[in-house]
Amino acid sequence: MLASTLLLACLAAAACGKPMARSMQVHETKETVPTDFELVGPAPPDTVLNLRLALVRGDLVGLEKVLMDVSTPSSPLYGQHLTKEEADAFMAPKPESVDAVNAWLKENDITVTKTSSAGDWLSFSIPVSKASDLLDAQFSVFNHTDSGKTMIRTLAYSIPSDLQGHLELIHPTVIFTRPLTGPAFKIAPRKNIQTPAVNRTSDAVPASCESEITPACLQALYGIPSTPASVPSNQLAVSGFIEQFANQQDLKSFLSEFRPDLPSSTTFSTQLLDGGENPQVISEAGIEADLDTQYTVGIASGVPTTFISVGEENQDDVDGFLDIIEFLLSLTNQPQVLTTSYGFNEPDLTSTMANNVCSAYMALGARGTSILFSSGDGGVSGSQSQRCTTFIPTFPSGCPFVTSVGATTNIAPEVAASFSSGGFSNIFAQPSYQASAVSTFLNALGSTNAGKFNPSGRAFPDISAQGENVVIAFQGEFGLVAGTSCSTPISASIISLINDQLAAQGKKPLGFLNPFLYSTGASAFTDVTSGNNPGCNTNGFSARVGWDPVTGLGTPNFAALRTAVGL
Ligand SMILES: *[C@@H]1O[C@H](CO)[C@@H](O)[C@H](O)[C@H]1NC(C)=O
Ligand SMILES: *[C@@H]1O[C@H](CO)[C@@H](O)[C@H](O)[C@H]1NC(C)=O
Repeated sequence: MLASTLLLACLAAAACGKPMARSMQVHETKETVPTDFELVGPAPPDTVLNLRLALVRGDLVGLEKVLMDVSTPSSPLYGQHLTKEEADAFMAPKPESVDAVNAWLKENDITVTKTSSAGDWLSFSIPVSKASDLLDAQFSVFNHTDSGKTMIRTLAYSIPSDLQGHLELIHPTVIFTRPLTGPAFKIAPRKNIQTPAVNRTSDAVPASCESEITPACLQALYGIPSTPASVPSNQLAVSGFIEQFANQQDLKSFLSEFRPDLPSSTTFSTQLLDGGENPQVISEAGIEADLDTQYTVGIASGVPTTFISVGEENQDDVDGFLDIIEFLLSLTNQPQVLTTSYGFNEPDLTSTMANNVCSAYMALGARGTSILFSSGDGGVSGSQSQRCTTFIPTFPSGCPFVTSVGATTNIAPEVAASFSSGGFSNIFAQPSYQASAVSTFLNALGSTNAGKFNPSGRAFPDISAQGENVVIAFQGEFGLVAGTSCSTPISASIISLINDQLAAQGKKPLGFLNPFLYSTGASAFTDVTSGNNPGCNTNGFSARVGWDPVTGLGTPNFAALRTAVGL
């Protein structure tokens, strides 16, 4: 009885010109409402959802092979990065995928409002009622109780069975991200106000660096040159999110105090995305944005630096991450280095989305961009310290196509900073470039922390740099900050300066760093062998001889890097 009623309903729908019901298949689910979120109630049917749809990309296997070839020093193709068109050709969905998805959208009267450069992402807007029908979903309002931020999500959605293999995912649907928070640190007063000598007569690290880190400390410690870069096409980009604004006046104060040798006009340029802004009222300056611009412009002397401010005109923070990478992939001449001091806990994303974003980093890497992310500030408990029983890896650090940066403290010798996140991805398998380094570590580790992490996952961080007692100018005053947010722009600046010297000799930029770092580059890092990163009621991992999931391969040595890259 019931069955025949259903059949009649379907026939009636067809007779009325409605699309034939397709056989649907559940595509992605979230088993339960994640902790820290609560179901408020059904989403209002006429609320418009701005959805985006990822098509399955055409040839990611081929792209990964190219990425490894152009990034591995021993390969004959090393440095032969792809052009935008070549990378787009790998990322572009197959014509049959485009046709199948477009036919489905058309029969549902859905108009695509935006298509990404490679055609792998489509955007469209439809009301909740239509989205619920289209995807057999129950869109509801959920509240992130810590922040009070509400969002419309569903615990499951379906797609037509015949679109499997063509349609990768629809977002936002089942991903519940905690809003990106600013840096975990607060600004503290400087411990001493003695300005370190800029004109050093020896290579010795100034004694004041034991209590506060300035550009002069980093130049002495890592051998970073103060001579300005000379190649204008060599660019460094700094990601900005969550209305963290980078202040030009704070940068000016910082440079006049710590880099009086640079021209007084030295600054960064600004790129706005998603309705982003970068207001210059001093009270709107953000710690993270000030830190990130001061430790790029102030370390990568003379390298043209762009602060990319991603605004709030996107559905959630994942969209902001997608939009910045999509923007960079749309440029013909993209920056050679990208530094980002934001991230997620890996479990907050689905593995489908994590893979999708990670593949976009693969494309940018294949084009010759070095992508650096901070590893997180919660030790083994994730991006910030939180309760946990098993270790929480962070994203994008767990993506094998980015370089993850941990943090150190102290000078002689450097030791791991206790907040320096590191560990093993539960989504991404261990890439071959790090197999030997990681197996040496795991053998030495024995059964410590067994069961709390995935020993066959992509291990991070890859490298580290200073991350405590770092002096910044913030809202007109100097203060000290800490975090992998410090070590990441510092490391990115060093790579940019190496790229400048390579470019000056007509050589290619370093591009995706990891295959180099774990091979001919390893000797250019000073091994950090003490300290640990506690979390989840454990002591975390310990730094030890060789690579470890607290400080990676160690901290950079500029002269050794020059030698390693053949300068
Ligand atoms: C979300 O949760 C917070 C904290 O419990 C509460 O104050 C707020 O009213 C909630 N918002 C909604 C829309 O339920
Ligand atoms: C650096 O210090 C030396 C020795 O005190 C001095 O001769 C030189 O002029 C100084 N250079 C600059 C650029 O101030």
